[in-house]
Parts: sequence; structure tokens; C-alpha cells
Amino acid sequence: MQTRQRRIGIISAVHQEQAGLIEHMEQANTVHCAMRDYVTGRLWNQEVVCVLSRMGKVAAATTTATLIERFQVTEVLFTGVAGGAGEHVRVGDLVVAEQLIQHDMDCRPLFPRFEVPLTRLDRFSTDQQLTNQLVHACSSFLSHDLETALTQEDRGLFQLHAPQVHRGLIGSGDEFIHHAERLGQLRSMLPGLLAVEMEGAAVAQVCFEFGIPFAIVRTISDSADAGSAIDFMRFIDKVASQYAFHLIRRFCEHRTGLDTGVG
Ligand code: ADE
Repeated sequence: MQTRQRRIGIISAVHQEQAGLIEHMEQANTVHCAMRDYVTGRLWNQEVVCVLSRMGKVAAATTTATLIERFQVTEVLFTGVAGGAGEHVRVGDLVVAEQLIQHDMDCRPLFPRFEVPLTRLDRFSTDQQLTNQLVHACSSFLSHDLETALTQEDRGLFQLHAPQVHRGLIGSGDEFIHHAERLGQLRSMLPGLLAVEMEGAAVAQVCFEFGIPFAIVRTISDSADAGSAIDFMRFIDKVASQYAFHLIRRFCEHRTGLDTGVG
């Protein structure tokens, strides 16, 4: 049996997170489909398709389905930002998802709270191998690239002192969380919640339904409280773009090393 050639779909929610990757791409070709630009090409020896999903679960779900059906990706990675929800999760930390839950899914009394109807699941698990590779990329980035990727001024501005990598539960919903009280509700309903965002669990459900391995990494841009909107905009411009570029670089280089038996 012939194995399909690997092709990685790389999704981000906002432009700044992907601009550097597109600039770096070899043999780039853009295909416009359903209000999205899908850019196919090569990054650090890996065949990829990069696309901006825009924000929210529906936007992420349609983009993921198109990547799989039309662009024939064999795996999906999502890089983006999130609000910190775990006790020890700080701005500048990285959260790699082990599981994703749609925190706004509520079909009671027909189905239990958070359960996605007819799947019998209230959370979707990421692919272990891809997740381990992403954690490896995150750790390498923080130990080797952070100091050069960001100016000392920006590291000081965002108080990025020794950022950490966490792995665990991410919650997604069509809601930008910007009140401590709302975050508190989510944390008490979802023990172990590390981060909140607006796309990951939708990507997860689509990949689950298609049987496509996926992994998701989020850089913490804000604390999901009153200051979150201001922190989010500043952070994306200055920091998230650098994080996304170097994480994907590290991920692809590691992959290429594994493929060729070097590194
Ligand atoms: N993405 C980044 N910060 C977020 C927040 N506070 N709520 C939802 N999604 C986010």
C-alpha cells in the first residue's frame, strides 16, 4: 500500500501570527477559497499549507474542513494566542493542548453539559506524537531562541521572565473572556483548565471526525480579565508573531531531522 505524502496544515487565527511563515515559504502558491487564502509550499523541508482561520469556532471549523478535504493535509497544527486560566499560567507561557473542550456547548437536558451531541465526548484528545513534538519545539524555542527573537525592551514590557511550557486542558468558546468573574466560573466548572481561546476545540472536533491527527499550541497573551483586550492587541504585534514563527521552525526542523535520521 502506498502511504500518502505528509502535508501539514498550519492554522492561525490572526494575520500577525502567520505573516513571517508566509514570507519564509518556498514555492509558495496562494489559492483563494471561501474567503480564505490557503498558501501551499515548503517550510524547512516540510510540505505545508498555511491559512488564517479568522476568529471563532465556526471560522475555525470551516477552515479545517477545507484544509482536509480540498488541500488533502495529513495532519493539522494550530498556533495562536490564548487567555491564561491555570493558577500557574502566566503571560508569555506556552500551553500545549492534551485535550480540548467547547466550554459554551450546553445541550442540556438532551445531553450532559459540554457533551458534543452524538459523539458521546465532551473533550477531544490531541495526537500524542504530534503533541510531544510540539512540546519539544516549545522547550527548544524558550531555551534557545527567546532572547534573540525578542528585544530586551519587549521582554521587559511584557514581563517575560523564564516563560514555561504547560500541557493539559484548553477551553474554546465564541467568547473573548475579559472578566475575572467569568474566568472564575469557567475554572470552577472545568478543573485543570489551563487556557481559554476561541478556535481550538472546533479544530479538534473536525479533525476527530475526519480521523486526522492534530496538535494545538497557544501562547498566553493575557489573563482573561479586565485588561485582556489591551494586552491581547499589543502582545500579538510584538510577541506572538515571533513565538509562532520560531515554534513552527523548530517543529519542522525537528521533523526533518527525524525523517533523515539526523538530529
Ligand atoms: N484569545 C486570547 N485571549 C483570549 C481571551 N481572553 N479569551 C478568549 N480568547 C482569547
